Amino acid sequence: MLILGIETSCDETCAAVVEDGYKIISNIVASQEALHLQFGGVVPEIACRAHLESIMPVIDASISRAGIGLNDLDAIAVANTPGLVGALLIGLTAAKTLSWALSIPIVDINHLHAHIYSVNFAYEDIHYPLLGLLASGGHTSLFFVKDPTNYTFLGGTLDDAAGEAFDKVAKVLGLGYPGGPKIDNISKNGNRNAIPFPRSYLAKDSLDFSFSGIKTAVLYYYHGYPRREGLQGSNLGMWYDKDDDRSQSSTPDLKRVADIAASFQEAVVEVLVNKTLYAFNNYPAKGIAIGGGVARNTRLRERFKEATIGTGIPVYYPSPDLCTDNAAMIAGLAYHKCLKGAFSDLSLEAISNFQP
Ligand code: KG4
Ligand code: ZN
Repeated sequence: MLILGIETSCDETCAAVVEDGYKIISNIVASQEALHLQFGGVVPEIACRAHLESIMPVIDASISRAGIGLNDLDAIAVANTPGLVGALLIGLTAAKTLSWALSIPIVDINHLHAHIYSVNFAYEDIHYPLLGLLASGGHTSLFFVKDPTNYTFLGGTLDDAAGEAFDKVAKVLGLGYPGGPKIDNISKNGNRNAIPFPRSYLAKDSLDFSFSGIKTAVLYYYHGYPRREGLQGSNLGMWYDKDDDRSQSSTPDLKRVADIAASFQEAVVEVLVNKTLYAFNNYPAKGIAIGGGVARNTRLRERFKEATIGTGIPVYYPSPDLCTDNAAMIAGLAYHKCLKGAFSDLSLEAISNFQP
């Protein structure tokens, strides 16, 4: 079964052809990174305009690269939630048009579920059920995944997503966009125990995430913040007088930035690993699947390895190019929905917010 996947939820225009859920025949990603670079984040209007310009060439390229014709397709799959609504609509409209013109089914795909599905391209023998962690620029979510089409939401982002926190902290530290890879790299030269940034676990047993506090903590630590009554002696060590200007410290600036980056990364990674393992221990999962851009993070992978060594718990990651947004994951997951006859129709809508 040949499925064309379409993905336009954020800042990448993607189309891919996947055979029988696991074999990627073509996978085209038109990145808008250069367009958003100067703004330090994704600008929705610019993203929509760029999707409009790229969607047809990207679909054409995915079909020709696959060496097939449109008539060889068995179904069209499209990410219709969550994401920027204008961006989603462009992929959705292209998908509906093709479905109608070719008289083939359209399959709606949840972008977050598809990120977790991506691990299936990297391993042959994945045993479900899985505990899925999705850590991307827009979301941080935990799922109990009974099978490739069955996802139970366990908890998620209350404010900033993990990748968003990486991007914002990188901006504060002047490292550029997207921040995740920059922080990952510079952290290799830093001391991850240099600054005890806060770890936000929320309520006991909570499987939700909150990363906006640590982002603010880094901001204050880096730029300085006037000491206030009542905040002296904070064990976080991040409140200090303007006069106590650490930016004038004798430590070379690059080393200071590397220490801050490494300490920030350590705090985020620690929460991601501990909450995922806590969830794993409370659900009957056989392994852990991690998807989304943050799944590329070197320290995240190290800490999961350290935490699971000798336990026999398999931890699955997508290949690096399939951690970030792509349409292969959309077409791959759609195959399993097709097997169950779970098709949509031309009334399908774009839904911006994630609906558990
Ligand atoms: O999954 P994705 O393409 O976007 C969404 O669907 O939202 O992930 C992009 C996010 C960005 O926030 C980026 O900074 C982060 O993934 N990212 C990383 C790394 N590579 C990408 N975060 C931490 N470490 C990395 N190596
Ligand atoms: Zn994504």
